Amino acid sequence: MPMNLLPLYSPRKRILLKLFLTAVLLLLLAGAAPVPFIWESTTLWYKTGLDKTLLQAGKVFGIFAAILLALQILLASRQPLLDRLFGLDRVYTLHQINAYMIITCGLLHFGMVILPEGWSNLPIGWKFWPELIGAGVLASLCGSALIATFRPRILPYHLWRALHRPLGYLVALALPVHILFVSGTLDHTVPRYALFILASAVTLCIIIRKTQIILLKKRYWHLNLLTAETEEIVRLEVTPPSSFAYAPGQFAVIQLHGDSISSEPHPFTIASAPASGDCLQFFIKKCGDWTSELSPEAAEHISVEGPYGLFSYKARQKIDRLILIAGGIGITPILSMLRQIAAEPIQPRVTLLWSLRYRHQLFLQDELALLKREIASLDITIVYTGEKDGDRLTRERLHDLLPGLNGSEHAYICGPPPMMNSVKRDLLLLGVARRHIFFEEFAL
Ligand SMILES: Cc1cc2nc3c(=O)[nH]c(=O)nc-3n(C[C@H](O)[C@H](O)[C@H](O)COP(=O)(O)OP(=O)(O)OC[C@H]3O[C@@H](n4cnc5c(N)ncnc54)[C@H](O)[C@@H]3O)c2cc1C
Ligand code: HEM
Ligand code: HEM
Repeated sequence: MPMNLLPLYSPRKRILLKLFLTAVLLLLLAGAAPVPFIWESTTLWYKTGLDKTLLQAGKVFGIFAAILLALQILLASRQPLLDRLFGLDRVYTLHQINAYMIITCGLLHFGMVILPEGWSNLPIGWKFWPELIGAGVLASLCGSALIATFRPRILPYHLWRALHRPLGYLVALALPVHILFVSGTLDHTVPRYALFILASAVTLCIIIRKTQIILLKKRYWHLNLLTAETEEIVRLEVTPPSSFAYAPGQFAVIQLHGDSISSEPHPFTIASAPASGDCLQFFIKKCGDWTSELSPEAAEHISVEGPYGLFSYKARQKIDRLILIAGGIGITPILSMLRQIAAEPIQPRVTLLWSLRYRHQLFLQDELALLKREIASLDITIVYTGEKDGDRLTRERLHDLLPGLNGSEHAYICGPPPMMNSVKRDLLLLGVARRHIFFEEFAL
């Protein structure tokens, strides 16, 4: 029995809502900038000229940093609206960029509030504890962002996550203490209420989202199958609660519960399609400590959170020709889209290019043969880059495999980043429009 198809926002609706949210953020920042000028703190009474201007500007940067920090927590809390507008992977990219904006504002704030006092009068000592909390917040933000940026080289994901999340929430809790005890501006009723309203609104959004996630996970997810598909790939099938809906190409965050496996959450693409049946299917490549623990006996229960992502032809309109390019396990979102297209009465022209390293890595042969029968126009090419008589998706090869490109076709690429970059470059040179090329990177 088919499952519910999650309707995704149209590109037009996404642009309008993104513009609206950007305008709200800019208005919030613009509205906050004059606060230190309207509600002067007593510290400003004794300052004149450049010193006064510096202190006021420093306070403005402090306020900007605080607003962006609230946004930072929202961006990381997997809000469905943000996912629908940007796709969760892009939301995490925004989270990363925003971290550096917060740090820039925090450093400018620090420099500008300290400079008028003189570097010889740094607020050091227990009586300056609110300033020291500010210093702790700034140091934690810099440390957290640095560690997060270099994480793949220095820490396993689960250890980094166990450190990053509590530190993020701690910083967000410490900041209001700094602000309330250090700032004269906040002695005035209006800025005090404004801070309270902002903090409460963000806390509410996070509590609502966390509750939704807990409720979704608590509903009964039946683990049907966990089996070896190939030497390095595991197939997992699960029956969701009846109301679950998703779009082809989306992913979910799954947690397995059992004695021999850690219950840390991991993101995986839903390789099934809503039209292809009432269970969700995942193909998981054993590549690290957690995925290597997966075995038929490993798990007794499963919980699933999602769906997330916009790597789906359903997020765009009017597609006459689809080019689907996968590298290795990157086939999963593409398989999902093919399965959905197979059940649709009006099908675009579809080309699938799948790059694998070795022949023994090939799986899904029967499924692909079936899809070829169900999608009249489907053209499939599989290349093996590591075999002696192997092949690569070079520009010349793409030129031969994709005749008649005219800029109207949509390309979906999922695979290792170097492969995606080179294929994207070549597709652009062959005439595919930049705005019609979509990526899914298997990393947040
Ligand atoms: C949107 C998305 C869809 C994905 N779809 C698939 C799929 O269909 N099939 C598949 O095999 N893989 C998929 N992945 C990749 C998969 O999530 C990782 O391979 C897996 O989590 C690695 O776990 P590990 O502990 O075994 O490996 P590790 O060696 O510990 O980690 C390898 C890398 O995976 C990422 N990672 C590890 N743990 C987590 C975590 N808990 N949360 C987020 N990222 C983590 C990190 O970038 C890490 O550097 C997808 C990833 C994303 C982001
Ligand atoms: C070493 C680090 C820091 C020091 C020494 C410091 C110091 C100060 C001082 C002295 C004030 C009061 C200014 C005044 O009223 O005259 C202040 C206010 C403030 N700080 Fe910090 N701070 C630091 C870090 C931070 C960080 C990292 C943030 C935000 C992420 C921040 C946000 C604020 C805000 C919002 C105010 C209130 C602004 C206002 O009064 O209008 N501070 N800080
Ligand atoms: C320095 C400022 C930062 C703060 C305050 C911060 C805060 C947070 C918080 C609170 C969470 C947990 C949200 C939740 O689960 O409810 C989170 C998650 C996350 N952050 Fe950050 N973050 C910062 C910087 C970064 C940077 C620079 C990166 C990337 C390079 C990053 C990547 C992530 C990712 C991937 C997650 C999701 C973790 C998971 O659930 O698996 N963060 N962040």
